[in-house]
Amino acid sequence: MEKTAHPQAWLRGLVSGFAVLMLLASSAGYAEDLSLPPPSRKGTLSVEEALSSRRTHRSFQGRALTLKQLSQILWAANGVTAVRPGRQLKTAPSAGATYPIDIYAVVGEGGVESMAPGVYHYRPESHSLRPVTSGDVRTQVAAACLRQMWMAPAPLLIVITGEYGRCSAKYGPRGVTYTQIEAGHVGQNVFLQAEALFLKAGIVGAFEREDLGKTLHIPAAHEPLLVMPVGYPG
Ligand SMILES: Cc1cc2nc3c(=O)[nH]c(=O)nc-3n(C[C@H](O)[C@H](O)[C@H](O)COP(=O)(O)O)c2cc1C
Repeated sequence: MEKTAHPQAWLRGLVSGFAVLMLLASSAGYAEDLSLPPPSRKGTLSVEEALSSRRTHRSFQGRALTLKQLSQILWAANGVTAVRPGRQLKTAPSAGATYPIDIYAVVGEGGVESMAPGVYHYRPESHSLRPVTSGDVRTQVAAACLRQMWMAPAPLLIVITGEYGRCSAKYGPRGVTYTQIEAGHVGQNVFLQAEALFLKAGIVGAFEREDLGKTLHIPAAHEPLLVMPVGYPG
């Protein structure tokens, strides 16, 4: 008797092969980038009001943020505001426009509407997020921050990192200081943008660098400089 594969079995094979390929792709870090909604350039709170109300917050509700709020915070932190020949200018100043800062978003379970928990790398040039690792790692991040567990309930942790080499290539040893100064500008942008969205932010500079880097799965050259929990005040 002639052997012919049943057409449904053939289709099932194709579908499961595709599923395996997708799984392999995501575990190899090839999950698709996530486009963020365009940031708004107008708000309802004045700079003076945001400056007056800014405080380091250490208590947060678990309430989810919207993708729009996340988009706005990332843009404020390190987003592109102008394009010049050969380079893009950003919300924070940068020594020699060397831009040594990278931002990672640690999203908790149910932390941002329609997003899976995980660590994401912000890509300013395309205003998008690239998945780095999946799963809710907020507790591990808080533990790496010398067990400052008050941070863990915040739906979003913004991690500001610096790659000294980008700035030191131009300025030598001063590049380290310049990178750290730039991280401070970025941090204040996050604070003020959170206020303008009627959210609150905290700031943490006390952490075990190696533990934090391992938890986040970030490149060794990306030195964590600040961690900023963001959310609704608890
Ligand atoms: C570089 C830096 C590191 C900080 N690290 C921490 C920290 O690890 N934990 C913490 O609770 N607050 C931290 N803070 C927040 C300060 O304690 C806070 O800014 C200060 O008490 C003034 O309060 P305010 O920010 O509410 O005005 C840090 C602030 C800065 C600028």
